[in-house]
Amino acid sequence: MIKCHCAEVYFDEIVQLAIEKGKNYKEVMQELGASQICTACRDDLISYCENKLISYLEPA
Ligand code: FES
Repeated sequence: MIKCHCAEVYFDEIVQLAIEKGKNYKEVMQELGASQICTACRDDLISYCENKLISYLEPA
């Protein structure tokens, strides 16, 4: 899964907004209403965001 189908939000949008706004991705998730309806996307969403944000934070 690459998006939350209930909220129509791609996981990548959450990562990009978290980076742009300097927010925790969980905050962005809540603001966009992602992973709050059926929650089927939750595990995929969390591992996607954590992996992306870890590689963003690691020095090149
Ligand atoms: S697919 Fe994300 S809450 Fe349903």
